Amino acid sequence: MDVLLATCAAMPGLYADDRYLLESLSRRGRAAAPAVWEDPHAPWEECGLCIIRSAWDYSYRRSQFLAWAERVGRVTRLWNPPSVVRWNTHKRYLGDLADQDVATVPTLCLTAGSGARLDELLRERGWGDVVIKAAVAQTGRYAIRVGAGEVARGQAHLDRLLPHEDMLVQPWVPAAAGEEVSLVFVDGEFTHAVRKHAAGGEFLVHHDYGGSVRPTRARPAQMDLAERALACVSEPLLYARVDLVADGNGNPMVMELELVEPELFFRYSPAAVERLAGAVERDLEQRR
Ligand SMILES: Nc1ncnc2c1ncn2[C@@H]1O[C@H](COP(=O)(O)OP(=O)(O)O)[C@@H](O)[C@H]1O
Ligand SMILES: [Mg+2]
Repeated sequence: MDVLLATCAAMPGLYADDRYLLESLSRRGRAAAPAVWEDPHAPWEECGLCIIRSAWDYSYRRSQFLAWAERVGRVTRLWNPPSVVRWNTHKRYLGDLADQDVATVPTLCLTAGSGARLDELLRERGWGDVVIKAAVAQTGRYAIRVGAGEVARGQAHLDRLLPHEDMLVQPWVPAAAGEEVSLVFVDGEFTHAVRKHAAGGEFLVHHDYGGSVRPTRARPAQMDLAERALACVSEPLLYARVDLVADGNGNPMVMELELVEPELFFRYSPAAVERLAGAVERDLEQRR
């Protein structure tokens, strides 16, 4: 087996968009197959390399996922590398980007068990409407919008979850529901961008919540910020996605830097699929 594409148990045949990669590798004569990351019998040690793709369920068991990534990284090449997986699966990395002067959505990271008082925290920062969400998250996990008059509801959300896990508080970004732009990079180069819209009445842009996606052009300021965010990562990356939203002045901010299992929107860019498959072939040749 040349390549295993790691997916989740709910999608054993991969998310449809990732199958374009599988097909491209097959056309190139490479043996490639999906494998469920939790499958104890999958032949990780027999593949030339493993690419994390539709593994969209790890946020409920991050430690098992990290242990899996470390193990696979010892027996074969894992993309992206295990150290990147560890760093990027907890959104405290947003603080690391902000420390390096990358514009990010302002983020307060609350540590599990810390018993935070939301009213005090918001007063100290002068924040009104906020979003509270899990620090380890996919598909809007534990994300709620809390209006300025709803602090008690936000506090109840924290009281329920903060004893168990780290939580984030961010100011509400009005543009996010209609203007989240994702820039996709493959093998170190920008390939394409999409714009995501939340469904009416929703604030989460994900497909699961009725959100929609369309191709878009990346503006120079967005491209510049995405490249500066990626420059904060010293390890090599096979793929990356940078999610940007606009601040009140229309300037981009990083909502997420996605280096583990981002949907790469291959359906909008056959060139991105071919670029990734080409990089995989090169990597396989080098490892022979
Ligand atoms: N501060 C915010 N303001 C407005 N909407 C937000 C904010 N944070 C998150 N959202 C919405 O929730 C979605 C999920 O949050 P995100 O940080 O992207 O986590 P993930 O996609 O990993 O669950 C975003 O795409 C956006 O639609
Ligand atoms: Mg997101």
